[in-house]
Amino acid sequence: MSASNTLDRVLVLEMVRVTEAAAIAASKWIGRGDNDAADAAAVEAMREALNKLPMQGTVVIGEGERDEAPMLYIGEKVGYCPEGQDVPAIDIALDPLEGTTITAKAGPNALAVLAIAEKGGLLNAPDVYMEKIAIGPGYPDGTIDLADSVTNNVARLAAAKGVEPSDITACVLDRSRHAAIIEELRAIGCSVRLIPDGDVAGVIATTDPDTQIDIYIGTGGAPEGVLAAAALRCVGGQIQGRLVFRNEDEKARAARWGIEDLDRIYTLDDMAKGDCIFAASGVTDGSLLDGVKRKSGGCVTTHTIVMRASSGTVRWVRGEHHCGD
Ligand code: FBP
Repeated sequence: MSASNTLDRVLVLEMVRVTEAAAIAASKWIGRGDNDAADAAAVEAMREALNKLPMQGTVVIGEGERDEAPMLYIGEKVGYCPEGQDVPAIDIALDPLEGTTITAKAGPNALAVLAIAEKGGLLNAPDVYMEKIAIGPGYPDGTIDLADSVTNNVARLAAAKGVEPSDITACVLDRSRHAAIIEELRAIGCSVRLIPDGDVAGVIATTDPDTQIDIYIGTGGAPEGVLAAAALRCVGGQIQGRLVFRNEDEKARAARWGIEDLDRIYTLDDMAKGDCIFAASGVTDGSLLDGVKRKSGGCVTTHTIVMRASSGTVRWVRGEHHCGD
């Protein structure tokens, strides 16, 4: 099939359909204690929706490597080419269910997430951990620096905001590996918002003053880091990430990805460049989006945010689906 290399604006709304489909499928598993079933339902629905789109899509951030993920594995081709048509070549980063445990426990902020970019626009990161630091838009370049201490990062952010470090709220994943970060933040008087899971939503929260979250700090998944970077590329903000390799197996994974500098700090532009589209639908209610709701008569409602880097447009889409499922 032939391929063009631009992101058609029509794809903005198509992406809404894709994340809506995954969110609706996952929502059937809210509170049922089965992470795997929730994830599998979202993956299958997202894949089916992607394969209905006229595009030459390649999954660059997905459910894992080919030998460990049956669907939406890294490198899988999705989309179709209508006879005689030129279709866009697109790289896709996806997490059909960001927050499998959240969904299983009916907690807040589970999302179906997707980012697309022109070929080569998204960092092809292995599925390892990533140290991350992120802030919302409107601050001078250099406000955050992953190589610097938490205290200095907060001090620069506070100065840029014209407030004291004690006025800063930091969002951190509630994990024992973050004990030192949390202690340092509290020692300088910061408020720490601990989240059980879902650091894509945690990073995006820094862009919304209503959340009161000023900075995201801590280690989560690298794929989630790339997805969050794509969102910030559209809406503004800064993020830096450094891959964390915990053992020889993960280092070997890095080598397969062609990563030579294991300590490299990736900037926003390294993770998401050029035009890109980011979409997320709420599975459960959260700070960013409402979750899927089932109404009487088989009506299902969804809430989605979709944004595009080149135009800076952010759309909030409420969907009503008379799908009966
Ligand atoms: P899942 O959807 O795979 O459960 O990921 C949820 C999540 O909290 C991510 O948002 C985060 O990046 C990662 O897990 C953190 O990993 P861990 O749970 O191993 O600390």
